[in-house]
Amino acid sequence: MPTTIWIDGRLAASDAPALTVFDRGFLLGDGVFETLRARRGVAIELDEHLERLRASALPLGIALPADDAGIVQGIAAVLAAEGLDDDGSSGHPPGDAAIRITVTRGAYMSRGLAPSGPSSGTTIVIVAWPHVPPRGSVLRDGLTLVASSVRRDPASPLAGVKTTSRAESVFARLEADRAGADDALILDTTGHVSEATSANIFAIRRDRLVTPPLASGCLAGTTRAWLLAHAGAHDLTPEELPMTRADLLRADEVLLTSSVAGILPVRRIDGQPVGRDAAGPLTIQLRDRREAWIDHASRGRT
Ligand SMILES: Cc1ncc(COP(=O)(O)O)c(C=O)c1O
Repeated sequence: MPTTIWIDGRLAASDAPALTVFDRGFLLGDGVFETLRARRGVAIELDEHLERLRASALPLGIALPADDAGIVQGIAAVLAAEGLDDDGSSGHPPGDAAIRITVTRGAYMSRGLAPSGPSSGTTIVIVAWPHVPPRGSVLRDGLTLVASSVRRDPASPLAGVKTTSRAESVFARLEADRAGADDALILDTTGHVSEATSANIFAIRRDRLVTPPLASGCLAGTTRAWLLAHAGAHDLTPEELPMTRADLLRADEVLLTSSVAGILPVRRIDGQPVGRDAAGPLTIQLRDRREAWIDHASRGRT
């Protein structure tokens, strides 16, 4: 567990009280967040994540500081405090971290949903953990998914917005746990595939790399965008097309993408095998390319 966190401009002990019980992030899930990797003390795709944080805060009218300097300093401070910023030059392994930036509307003394009356202003918390690579068995065998009973409504103004209101995703993840699966597949209200609980999804069929369009209500994932841009290096043609569960089952390989877990193979959906019922070889190549790119980015060499 991290021993030090960053909150509203200062470092604090992680076990010290930090938030008031009136914080709307706690009361209502009235907040937005980002999770990202850092290596050698360098936050990977930081601009993309900060841009998405602002895009998430906008529809909810959550006020962020005018510039990103405070958050950037907070990331550096918390990585240093947790000893996760080693640049690897001293013979130690380079620091490798998962960072979460959480922004809530802050504390209001009034009751109810409408934020009215005096407030504390926005709460910003940054936490960093050592990055834990996936188990070898996941990279060898692949993950299992089950379709959730939770449906994503692409017409919702908050579809694809990274709010801290994650109860549906938690519910879906619990469904997956109960079914003995690793994660849940989220379909949209038309029955098409949207994404997983905290990752985007892709199918590889012959030379095509297909992922659901943003109109499915999925998050505009940074790793999704990266993979669409780098598919050509593996002679894959990237496409954003509506897809069904049956399309996934017909694929040669299925994979998940997210900043922290990276690119991960999927082996089964609802108990039915995908491709060769093990991690797909192209998926592993794409994962390795992404990990190498992250390392280059951390050395300032993308
Ligand atoms: C619902 C959801 N979809 C997709 C992703 C992947 O996004 P990214 O690649 O930017 O991490 C995440 C990441 O946390 C997520 O929560």
